[in-house]
Amino acid sequence: MNVQVDFNLLPFNTFKLNSVARYFVELTSEAELAELTKFSKDKKLPIRILGGGSNLILPEKIEAIVVKNVLMGTRVLMETSDTVLISCASGMNWHQFVMSTIANGHFGLENLALIPGTVGGAPIQNIGAYGIEVNRFITQVHGYDFETGSTKTLTTNECQFDYRHSIFKTPAYKNFFITSVDFQLLKKANPVVTYAELAHAFSGKTATAGLVAEKVIEVRQKKLPDVAVIPNVGSFFKNPLVTAQQVDQLKKSTPDLVSYPQPDGRFKLAAGQLIDKLGFKGHKQGSVGMYEKQALVMVNLGNGRREDVVALVERVQQACLSVYGVSLEVEPIFW
Ligand code: EPU
Repeated sequence: MNVQVDFNLLPFNTFKLNSVARYFVELTSEAELAELTKFSKDKKLPIRILGGGSNLILPEKIEAIVVKNVLMGTRVLMETSDTVLISCASGMNWHQFVMSTIANGHFGLENLALIPGTVGGAPIQNIGAYGIEVNRFITQVHGYDFETGSTKTLTTNECQFDYRHSIFKTPAYKNFFITSVDFQLLKKANPVVTYAELAHAFSGKTATAGLVAEKVIEVRQKKLPDVAVIPNVGSFFKNPLVTAQQVDQLKKSTPDLVSYPQPDGRFKLAAGQLIDKLGFKGHKQGSVGMYEKQALVMVNLGNGRREDVVALVERVQQACLSVYGVSLEVEPIFW
């Protein structure tokens, strides 16, 4: 196990914040997990787990042992005539995994192409895009609890998946290291093209999984900033849920309000539209700002500082609450 001291995580977080970890370890095999537990007990410091660092806002200093997950590999666990069960190590790059499944004739994840991060990060916030959430394909999540020093497997029900949420975001799972995720994929593609942009692109045309992935990549590249060029963590706020009554009320003053009906009778609003209407699109706050092409995405304009992030979050939340009466919940995880 190679331990580095006072290690700057700048290259390991897509918002590109300077953040110095007391200890930094790259975990390449599950066998090192027990050794790490011992190291943590010896140093009396907690362990923090880093995947792709694509949904994280870091502090300047981290008094912990930060573990970068680089567990790699996929394997087929079971096949039927219609489905295939694939186990994927948590450190694999999500987009590469998605593209490899399509190339192997295993379908379902195509709408989730180009989402930054790792396979282990996918269940944590139940990644979703263009009409699909990843929990639809996850059968089990395997991991190791640093607190108890034991392994554990959770079924999809036990993961308590919800919109951008799972049990892995709760304090009880703070010390849980996801080692691998099992996905049940389809051998015959069943493309989902209900999302407006895909429905439009495939109207009157046959959608294949490969073509859907291509279109999703094109739409994402057009709207969302590339983390390699403009540092960001994707959507900064969750799309808020409101009652039917609130939607009716809001539509009186905002007739073009975007709202999606939910199975429970409530409506999901587009936080990006609200932030845009509030005038924050392209707005700068010191070293950060809301992206000029998608108001829901905060971007680091260079030398981004956490204080500016927090100040902009508060301004956006206050404006949305006072103008629309709607609370916006932050989406990335703050360490
Ligand atoms: N809109 C505006 N102005 C803006 C941004 C959006 O008016 O500046 C309007 C759009 O015109 C559209 C609506 O808001 O009518 C929704 O916008 P969009 O389709 O871009 O999706 P979103 O709700 O902003 C969500 C996810 C994205 C995901 C897309 C596509 C959340 C928090 N975000 O964004 O996920 O890629 O849908 O499915 O649910 C992420 O989680 O990091 C992420 C990028």
